[in-house]
Amino acid sequence: MSKREHPSFSSRIGFILVTAGAAVGLGNVWSFTYVAGKNGGGGFVLIYLLTLAFIATPVFMAEMLLGRLGKASTPTSLKKLQTSAGSKLPWALPAWIGLVATILVLSFYAVISGQVMAYGWEALQGGFAGWEKDQIIALDKAFKADPSVPIFWSILFLVATAAIVSLDIRKGLERASRLMMPVLFVMLIGLVIFAVLRAGFGAAFNFLFGFNEMQLSPKILMEAVGQAFFTLSVGVGGIMLYGSYMGDDVNLPKASLWIVLMDLSVALLAGLAIFPILFSANIDPAAGPGLVFITLPLAFSGIPGGAILAFVFFLLLTFAAITSAISLLSPPTARLEEAGWSRAKSAWVMGACAFVLSLATTLSFSSWAEFHPLAFLGFEGMTPFDLIREGVNNVVLPLGGLAFALMVGWGLKREDVRVALPMENGALFSIWYGALKYLVPIAIIALFLTAIFGGGH
Ligand code: TRP
Repeated sequence: MSKREHPSFSSRIGFILVTAGAAVGLGNVWSFTYVAGKNGGGGFVLIYLLTLAFIATPVFMAEMLLGRLGKASTPTSLKKLQTSAGSKLPWALPAWIGLVATILVLSFYAVISGQVMAYGWEALQGGFAGWEKDQIIALDKAFKADPSVPIFWSILFLVATAAIVSLDIRKGLERASRLMMPVLFVMLIGLVIFAVLRAGFGAAFNFLFGFNEMQLSPKILMEAVGQAFFTLSVGVGGIMLYGSYMGDDVNLPKASLWIVLMDLSVALLAGLAIFPILFSANIDPAAGPGLVFITLPLAFSGIPGGAILAFVFFLLLTFAAITSAISLLSPPTARLEEAGWSRAKSAWVMGACAFVLSLATTLSFSSWAEFHPLAFLGFEGMTPFDLIREGVNNVVLPLGGLAFALMVGWGLKREDVRVALPMENGALFSIWYGALKYLVPIAIIALFLTAIFGGGH
């Protein structure tokens, strides 16, 4: 990006919507429901909410601030800040790890998004209307059984993502986000209303928010923390890069608050829409990563005009997934551009890497379903997909977040941080700053100690 000026978004609301687009994605609908279901609901949801509020959100702001101060690709931004802070520690290292992690996330993200697109296509041909549960379960099985089908859709998804990143159509994205995000919201609210009328609503509400019956274990703790980081896209530098594009007139704390609230409400709405369907239809909440691909079609099968609604919904979800995938492909692309590659070449090469890695996820859903490569290390029953997803979400993201918190809390000067946000020198600022300095590091270190000594796996 040497000759060009560092790009920025055209307006405040544009920045908020595009960054919310990076946060809102499959994490809110697919992963929130499947991971909450797998981990028994209530306790998971409670830890998720607490982590979101007190750990992931402060780190989200810190990461965005590092981008605003660095105004370059993620490793370069952090290297600059390290120099100006006069630190001897390798600040760029978490950014480099983050670049690898974004491609790993993109690799499984593409496979799940591919299935979302395929379901949109199915609905366009009139699919799901009047279908029975068994028929829907059979479709999910058939989709995964022959790897060539998911491979086809993953390629389509990655091509769309790489094309958008290579063309750098930020303006177009802003405009599209303005339209699609509100429609997705309205559709989710519609689905929740539909779900309230179902017999399973009470059971679902209890499952998600019945904190009194909750189960907790080091593993559930890790998963909830990982989910909180994943849903806000923090820990790998994706948000840092968006922060580097943020106009100087944007109030960072306010913008963050809006983005977090949007992200949280989409997840809660998705949970309230999906779990009642699941309980009404006697589906096991711990059904795994295929959960939404059974519950969502089932929701639409019983609604008049279900096929067209299903089509619109899967289309919107595809869009939400693409805006998140863009935020995954952009950090490595930005770094390669700095190295002198064209934007197009950088995006396509990184997209191709994600595709090759995506095969591990595709196969985990078929011929590798019983392949547990790290069972000998104690990671029993985990497919390559499980290892990639849990490794990145539950380990890399919190550690990346820890690094960013330490940089802002301990590396930079308090007053510089306050002015850059900007925030009044009042209680709110002190709480946030204190969270980065003490709460976040202590909580994340305690989490890892619990996982290591309490048997996280
Ligand atoms: N937050 C997105 C979602 O919920 C996924 C995502 C985008 C992400 N960029 C990220 C996750 C960076 C971790 C890190 O779907």
